[in-house]
Amino acid sequence: MDDEWICGRLGEDEPWLLGAVNPPVFENSLFTFRTAGELGEAIKDEDERYVYWRGTNPTVDLAQRKLAALERGERAKCFASGMGAISATISSLVSAGDHVLVLGAVYGPTTQFLRYLEKFGVTHTHVSDLAGCDSAIRSSTRLLYFESPSYMRYEVFDIAAVTGWAREHGLVTAMDNTWSTPIFQKPLTLGVDLVLHSLSKYVGGHSDLVGGVVVGPSRLIRPLALTEYQLYGAAMSPHDAAKVIKGLRTLPVRMAAHQERGLAVAAFLAEHPAVRVVNHPGLSAHPGHAQAKAQMSGFSSLFSIELDTESREEAAEFLDRLRHFRIGVSWGGFESLVNVPALSVEESVRATMGIPVGLVRLSVGLEAADTLIKDLGLALEGVGRLA
Ligand SMILES: Cc1ncc(COP(=O)(O)O)c(C=O)c1O
Repeated sequence: MDDEWICGRLGEDEPWLLGAVNPPVFENSLFTFRTAGELGEAIKDEDERYVYWRGTNPTVDLAQRKLAALERGERAKCFASGMGAISATISSLVSAGDHVLVLGAVYGPTTQFLRYLEKFGVTHTHVSDLAGCDSAIRSSTRLLYFESPSYMRYEVFDIAAVTGWAREHGLVTAMDNTWSTPIFQKPLTLGVDLVLHSLSKYVGGHSDLVGGVVVGPSRLIRPLALTEYQLYGAAMSPHDAAKVIKGLRTLPVRMAAHQERGLAVAAFLAEHPAVRVVNHPGLSAHPGHAQAKAQMSGFSSLFSIELDTESREEAAEFLDRLRHFRIGVSWGGFESLVNVPALSVEESVRATMGIPVGLVRLSVGLEAADTLIKDLGLALEGVGRLA
């Protein structure tokens, strides 16, 4: 099965869809049964049977089947947000007294969630490499959590080496693959146990949806689907699932265009005197470029630059001078976006992640690269002493 077919057709030729070119949205909160006995049987298996929207829904199921196939996993469970998927997944893997290793920088609220778990007796340690894992591992360590490329700096980890190390030490691994999408990277094939995505980014692709998913083997997904999914109640709505299905149809083509435009803009910025560093793993100067080429089939268009400044005001002024890029926190949609984390991320999280004040994150959208380059060039010229 190739990815384009999975995105466009998988699961869509079944008789219950009546040949509808867009799969219908099952907009019902519950399903009814002919007998009380049938309902009793269905309730025992709410992961597989349609009973109530908070457990399962046919439109959500279709999105899940496609996402599982794209990641080459057995099962997928969609959530109302990426954080819904992340918090439910981590909760399903740890108990009071357990310890989590966090490798590299991860999405800020993921770190905040791990801090929140401390009140239930779950601790965590941030490490920057496998040597750090060796020193920080404890007899109570259960989970190794990471992103590759990592958050904000886009550091690349050797995923097979990380999962090999974790297996040797009896740990479960969970990886956030939102940056690459399943089109450009398939971590389950490199030994990761559970893969997470915010579907709010490239998969949705149109900034009109918030959703998340976890993909992995049935032995890990099923317990999570029957407990954390049901009890936290962060269920994906069928309307959002329909948007995910639509987003998937164009995901391969959009990712090819994002890659091309992102690299063109990154290459321009790498040559600009007002830019100290461009953190884009697709550039040959990036320290993780060779590893990225070895384990990924392409690059998305979210990256960061470090402006030649130590001033928050100057970084803010750069953003304000942009005319085409819009200022906003999310990424992965049609529109190009910029954000200065020093102005929006909680200070303690910024410090933990080692994000410089002059770091600007760019999400290159699907507009013409020339337009975006011109916009950035003019804004960089205008920033105080950066000119
Ligand atoms: C890398 C990454 N993972 C997870 C999330 C959380 O996703 P959501 O906003 O859908 O909860 C985000 C959101 O920005 C993200 O950037």
